[in-house]
Amino acid sequence: METTFRAWDVSRYGGPDVLTPVSRPVQTPTATQVLIRIRASAVSRADGLMRAGQPKFARLFLGLRRPRAGLSGTCFSGDVVAIGDDVTEFRVGDAVFGEAGLQFGANATYIRVDQAGSLLKKPDSVSYEEAATLFDGAMTSWHFLTRIANVQPGESVLILGGSGSLGTAAVQFAKALGANVTASASARNAELLRSLGADEVVDYKAEDPLKRGVTYDVVFDTIGISSFGTAKPALRRGGRFICPVLGLRLLRDMIVTGLFGSKKAKFAAAGMSKPAVHREELAEVLALMAEAKFSPVMDRTYPLADLVEAHRYVETGRKRGNVVVV
Ligand SMILES: NC(=O)c1ccc[n+]([C@@H]2O[C@H](COP(=O)([O-])OP(=O)(O)OC[C@H]3O[C@@H](n4cnc5c(N)ncnc54)[C@H](OP(=O)(O)O)[C@@H]3O)[C@@H](O)[C@H]2O)c1
Repeated sequence: METTFRAWDVSRYGGPDVLTPVSRPVQTPTATQVLIRIRASAVSRADGLMRAGQPKFARLFLGLRRPRAGLSGTCFSGDVVAIGDDVTEFRVGDAVFGEAGLQFGANATYIRVDQAGSLLKKPDSVSYEEAATLFDGAMTSWHFLTRIANVQPGESVLILGGSGSLGTAAVQFAKALGANVTASASARNAELLRSLGADEVVDYKAEDPLKRGVTYDVVFDTIGISSFGTAKPALRRGGRFICPVLGLRLLRDMIVTGLFGSKKAKFAAAGMSKPAVHREELAEVLALMAEAKFSPVMDRTYPLADLVEAHRYVETGRKRGNVVVV
């Protein structure tokens, strides 16, 4: 095994250029840790925001003046190459995937994580590239649709931003939950969304998906382009507006709608769920993959050495589904 590993340092907030390649010593896992040789890691929109230290209030968790963790990347997949003395759940040779959370350091060649963290065995049928993305779009959309909006069969769901990492997962999940699915996308992505199961695709460049005189039980704004206020007329009685992008307006709308009215605004930080919850929800997502009801949409794959390029591409806001580095 190598004595050093490659990673990407982020020691100040900023654009993709703040990412700097570094080499660090590979350390022996502690009693409850697992050492993983990483095969693939995700480059998500959220990774870009954390690198930039945006929104600013997120720096309360990430580090006030500079990123506390100092390394890039949250979601990874790979192979277990060493385990601590007390590790019971994993063995050397296991293929795994997981989320480093605020520890970061997933855009690297090795990572050490605790066995009790967000770490699972990777099914053979799921590629390393696909597995590296599951904690981003798939986990977040599944959590929002099932735990936050509680989508029921026969309900009508509008997904804003249907072609992103969260959106492409949300279209498939809403369909699997038995909902009638409308998704917004530009014309170039319409066919993709139909192939994922969308009953209707609205070209957001041609018309405002929230102003068509159609109402929904759930509006899932996956990229934070609307608000509860603009979505409210498109919500039915008892309707839920769910959005994974937190801002002060959404916070206020959650508090107010929590007290008054039948239409609700909701947010959650899916990544902050307890590992046991992660495991339960991931088991459900993997079951859908096994039934061919869900498959992560893969856009570009870059070598780890081209992480800056990968961040630049994600930053365009034009990616379709997921981007990984290998
Ligand atoms: N709360 C949580 O736990 C949590 C977890 C993970 C992620 N997030 C957040 O979720 C957000 C979504 O991330 P993502 O990775 O899914 O986004 P993304 O992949 O970067 O979204 C890109 C897609 O959005 C489409 N798009 C852009 N503008 C649009 C518009 N006005 N209407 C409809 N589609 C539009 C683009 O299609 P075109 O090129 O055709 O325009 C592109 O395909 C991020 O802000 C991330 O931080 C939150």
